Amino acid sequence: MNDGLTIRPFTFSIDLENCRITDADNHIKRNLADMKNQYFYKEAYDKMMKEDNALLYEVYEKLVPEKSGELIQGLSIVHPGKVGKEYFMTKGHFHSIIDTAELYLCLKGKGMMVMETPEGEWAIEEMIPNKAVYVPGKWAHRSVNISDTDLVTLFIYPADAGHDYGTIKEKSFRKIVIEENGKPAIMDNPMWNL
Ligand code: F6R
Ligand code: ZN
Repeated sequence: MNDGLTIRPFTFSIDLENCRITDADNHIKRNLADMKNQYFYKEAYDKMMKEDNALLYEVYEKLVPEKSGELIQGLSIVHPGKVGKEYFMTKGHFHSIIDTAELYLCLKGKGMMVMETPEGEWAIEEMIPNKAVYVPGKWAHRSVNISDTDLVTLFIYPADAGHDYGTIKEKSFRKIVIEENGKPAIMDNPMWNL
């Protein structure tokens, strides 16, 4: 535990069976309503919204002072499911201090990390248990669950990085991951930069 100003060494435990950090300081939940205009399959989105504002993903965080040198860590859990052909995914973001990196270690499930830079480079890396994905500074990132179980990843990033969600909300990502013939496929995002 910390008071926001000082910090002492601490530990935390991951309950992988129940997909949570047992002693988290923060628990964030994101539902379908939080992803308005982010999915290409709008009819499917509207239909699903009428039925249920489904829980798409959750984040458990250990908080530390948000200053240079410290690290924020936590667990990201993307639940299985699709909106139309598009798999459940996180909003995705750049870091506000754009050149700050992040490390993700997949602990459970199967996913893809969709990444891109402001200059137009893109990359998609597979996430499977015990595989880590290094997201360099300047790369926006979004986790996509391509399996039918929870996708659980441990993330670690600089505590002062901050989040820029606005750029992605406006422009979206260049690539989306959809299910085609029962398999994940990468597609140009027709909504990109609209
Ligand atoms: C932090 C980070 C992850 C994500 C989490 C949820 O910089 O990349 O902790 O915050 O996977 O995704 P977003 O934040 O895009 O809703
Ligand atoms: Zn991040």
